[in-house]
Amino acid sequence: MSKPQNKEGFSSALTIFFATLGSAIGLGNIWKFPYLTGVNGGAAFIIIYLGFVLILGIPLMLAEFYIGRSTGSNPIGAFDKIKDSKWPKANKIFKVSGVFTMITSMFVMFYYSAVAGWVYSYLFKAIKGDFNVLATMNVSDAVNFTKTSFTQTVSDGKVAVFWQFVVLLIVTIVLAKGVQKGIEKVTSTLMPVLLVLIVVCDVRALMLSKAGEGISFLMKPDFSKVSTDMILTAMGLAFFKLAIAMGVLIVFSGYYKKDTNLIGISFKVAISDVVISIMAGLAIFPVVFEFGLNPSEGAGLLFQSIPLSFAKLPMGNILLIAFFLLTAIAATTAMISLSEVPVRFLSQQFNISRKLSVIISTSIMFLIGALTVHPSSIFGGVRIFNKNLFDFFDFTTSNVLIPITGLLTAIFVGYVINKKSFVNEITNEGALAKYKGFVNFVLFSLKVLCPILIILIFISSFK
Ligand code: PHE
Repeated sequence: MSKPQNKEGFSSALTIFFATLGSAIGLGNIWKFPYLTGVNGGAAFIIIYLGFVLILGIPLMLAEFYIGRSTGSNPIGAFDKIKDSKWPKANKIFKVSGVFTMITSMFVMFYYSAVAGWVYSYLFKAIKGDFNVLATMNVSDAVNFTKTSFTQTVSDGKVAVFWQFVVLLIVTIVLAKGVQKGIEKVTSTLMPVLLVLIVVCDVRALMLSKAGEGISFLMKPDFSKVSTDMILTAMGLAFFKLAIAMGVLIVFSGYYKKDTNLIGISFKVAISDVVISIMAGLAIFPVVFEFGLNPSEGAGLLFQSIPLSFAKLPMGNILLIAFFLLTAIAATTAMISLSEVPVRFLSQQFNISRKLSVIISTSIMFLIGALTVHPSSIFGGVRIFNKNLFDFFDFTTSNVLIPITGLLTAIFVGYVINKKSFVNEITNEGALAKYKGFVNFVLFSLKVLCPILIILIFISSFK
């Protein structure tokens, strides 16, 4: 199949890697992965997680790369462009998965941008030195202080909405600049900065006396924790981390080059992502244990235990700034990729300018997003299916839309697409023929493993 050349695409193998890594790295690495690993049996969880990355994650990434790069299109339009289908009529049915990715990317942005707003506001507080008082407080006063500070951030509507606005404004500016001058430039500048910051935090944390306790909380395998729920969590996390089923990989691979090694990119991104997650855990737990705090909290870990424990270290405020800066970077690059999905869709399908598409997309994200996380919604107010909007958007995306889209993508590429077309695309028309064996495994996974595992896990999530 002849490949449409993209007028605007990423310019080099390195920037392709950084941009894609930017979509994988996000809040998931900093607070989800570390605490989920800690409470779910350490290395036991990491092993199962890696299993999902290999047998489902990478094959699904490659399936999305196929759809994206072979068409250069957005997740909905792509289904009209794919010609190598055994039953061309089926394309129309599978288009629904493209619609789901669009909904998912928006739904996730509604609440993700809010949490990112809290991170930005914490970064600002750290820069102002608001947490310096913690250094001399006793632990129980400090716990109260950080608790109050977090409640205030979340429950003061003006503050929360202001920071969400700032976050979305930054995303708007980056996206409006375009693929090369915006997305590519920002991700390839920020990803290395993030790495440096996390190394700084790691070095400091690992010098502490409780480093060993922190490391063993994260790494010591406890296989007694293996359960259906834990397996479910590991799969959900693998999808969320690798930005699967959200349209991001379809859109981004449309900006790849014809000779980009897709298998190489998927492995490099998946491995770097896990490494960064583990490094985040190593930066967090030694410090949290040093002050005897609870390592198993979700939002509490990020917004309460971390400010408290970091601020208590000598020069802790600098460390805290580094930590929230790296978290803000991670969240921002993830949001840039996520928001590019509706932008690409609007500009391609309705033939409107990129700038206008960006403004429409981020304005909707802001209007509904602000409503979603406004304290009046979170603490009562609007409810759908007895959930506040934040939980509703989180639940429908993680538990319903993402598994269904993953399943449809696997079936579409596994069964509907001509095998030859897929193999040609993934091996760059045979130039990477040495990977043939792996490509066969990928096809087996898309045909058999993905459908079976996703359906089993999907059903058990509703038990
Ligand atoms: N992978 C990101 C994280 O871990 C979230 C994300 C999901 C980003 C989907 C883009 C698309 O936080």
